[in-house]
Formats: sequence, structure tokens, C-alpha cells
Amino acid sequence: MDPLPTLKWKGDSLRLLDQRELPCNEVYIDCRDVNSLAGAIRTLAVRGAPAIGIAAAYGAVLAAITTDSGPDFIEGFQAKLDKLSGTRPTAVNLFHCIEIQREVFRKTGNREDAIKALLESADDLLAQDLDASRSMGRLGAELLKPDSTVLTHCNAGGLATAGLGTALAVIYEAWDRGLIRKVYADETRPLLQGSRLTSWELIRAGIPVDVLPDSAAASLIRDGRIDAVIVGSDRVAANGDIANKIGTYPLALAALKHGVPFYVVAPLSTFDLSTNTGSEIIIEQRSRVELSSYGERQLLPEGAGYWNPAFDVTPAAAITAIICEKGVISPPCEKTVRNMLDGVDMFL
Ligand code: MRU
Repeated sequence: MDPLPTLKWKGDSLRLLDQRELPCNEVYIDCRDVNSLAGAIRTLAVRGAPAIGIAAAYGAVLAAITTDSGPDFIEGFQAKLDKLSGTRPTAVNLFHCIEIQREVFRKTGNREDAIKALLESADDLLAQDLDASRSMGRLGAELLKPDSTVLTHCNAGGLATAGLGTALAVIYEAWDRGLIRKVYADETRPLLQGSRLTSWELIRAGIPVDVLPDSAAASLIRDGRIDAVIVGSDRVAANGDIANKIGTYPLALAALKHGVPFYVVAPLSTFDLSTNTGSEIIIEQRSRVELSSYGERQLLPEGAGYWNPAFDVTPAAAITAIICEKGVISPPCEKTVRNMLDGVDMFL
């Protein structure tokens, strides 16, 4: 299976498949500077933890290209990276990739060297992400039994990564092995990444998918119609707690209650050992407008308040296993997470 055209470096710009337009239109936007890329990340033209990180890595190249060499070059470059860091707070991949690029930049002598080194580094990060998705796909598929019906949430596919996805990489591999009967995709209120993006990806791959309202998922699990729940993650804490799209936690509770395995698929770039537990993860709060209107249509009366967190935290105790490219962490806890990451210094 080939990766989706989620993001591609075009020599002097980063081309993004504009996810705000899916599933109706397949259109691309070219980001030529950090301002336009930061806007694209904030408004979810590009989204999903690994994809945001890699987009920011190419953003560092844009930062170097668009800053005049001269006495203020270093300061100007770093200010542009700060702008990218300020786009979304929860997915740790963003911060890891920006830190990696700051380190690469520190080792270079002039603007031309910096551009070359930053681009090589961004290309490496993209290649690593693709490799990771293939490994996670293989490891995760081993855990599924034949004729499985699985449930997923949000979009953790090729659109959320530079490769084949995290949760969907497992589903793609399992489908190729003949292990999947059907996928249920939560619609994922309020921005509908499940109905707009996950079902679009699965249909493209020829995999049967039914979309359901998020509120219907617990009943589906209780009725014995789901063999495994498979989701991605935006940050894995040192004790195995994870943050993922809002609505993940209730799925984990329903799965725990009804004895259904709950798998989290996350590359090492999503792990954050400096965050001890899920309670330390900053949860992005998004705007009222995402709840108050749909297109032209108003959904909330004037005067109604709102609460719109983009992510929630699922405790390690409710997770059957976390699948990363190095192996399967089960049961997730501080000891098993640290053992798996022992010797990995790439992102820490
Ligand atoms: O707000 P989004 O669409 O960026 O949220 C994405 C998710 O929550 C995904 O499940 C997560 O990034 C893991 S996908 C590889």
C-alpha cells in the first residue's frame, strides 16, 4: 500500500492535502512561509500528531529560506520556530520535531548549510515515520483474530501521518492478511475526522466501513459487535496514560467494562518521558464556533456557553496494549514503557 499524499516538499514550499476540504474536494495548498503553515496547522488543513510534527520539520526549512542572512538570522529563524510551537499544544510530535530541527540548526555555520541540513533532517523524519507505520502495522495485525470487526476513533490513518497511519496501519495490514470483516468509524464530533477522513481513507482502500455517532459506540461494544478497539495517540506519558481525540476515554471505559481489547498505536515520536502521567498533558481547548455553527447553519442559541476540549486522557489501566514500532507494550505502565524506550534517544 502506498502512502497518501498528505504532505510533500516541493523545493521551495510544503504542499499539503487540505483536509478541511475532504471528503468533497481533493485540493492542495502550498505553504511558502511559516505564517501560512502555522495557519494550516491551527485550522487542521494538516492534522494528526505525526503529520503535524513532520509539517513543522519542513516548516523549519521554510523558516531558514524566508529569513534574510545577516546579523538577525539566528534570532529571526528561532522566532519562526516559536511560532510553529505555538500552534497546537497537545501532540508532542510537534515539539520533538521542532527540537530536533533546532539541534540540527545549531550545528550549522551559515544559512545555506542550515537549509540543506534542515531539509535532510525533515526528509529523514518523514522516512522514519513511514517505516514506523509499516512496523506498527505488522505488530498490531498479529494481535487480531480472523474475521475481526474493529472500532476506531478520529483519523489515525495516512492523513494523520507521513505514512500509512498508526491505528489504520494496523487495519490496512490486517485487511491484507484477511483478518478484517468490517471497520466501524466514530464520526468524531465536532470536526468529524472519523466520518470525513477515516471513511474516505478506508473506502479508497476498499475496506468496508460503517460510520456511527460517537454516542452509539458504547452500545455497539456492549452488544458484542466489536472484537477490538484500535486508536492512535497524540502523547504517551511515562506511565502509559495516553492523550487522544476527545471521545477516546469513554470508548476505553466501555471496552474495559465489556472485556473488549483496547489497543493504542503510537510511534516512538509520540512518547514523552518528561510527562509523568496523563494529568500533566496540556489539553487543547478549541473555539466556540466549532460547536455553534455548521456551515451557514447556527446550532447554538445566543447566550449558551461551551466547553470544547480537543483531546482527553485515557489511563494506562484501561489500555490492553500500546503498539509502537519497536514492539508491543502490555500491560502499559511506567516499567514496561521505560523498558521499551530503553536505549532510544532519538526523541527524548
Ligand atoms: O485534532 P486532530 O485531528 O489533529 O487529532 C488527531 C488525533 O487525535 C489522532 O487520533 C492522533 O493524532 C493520532 S493519529 C496518528
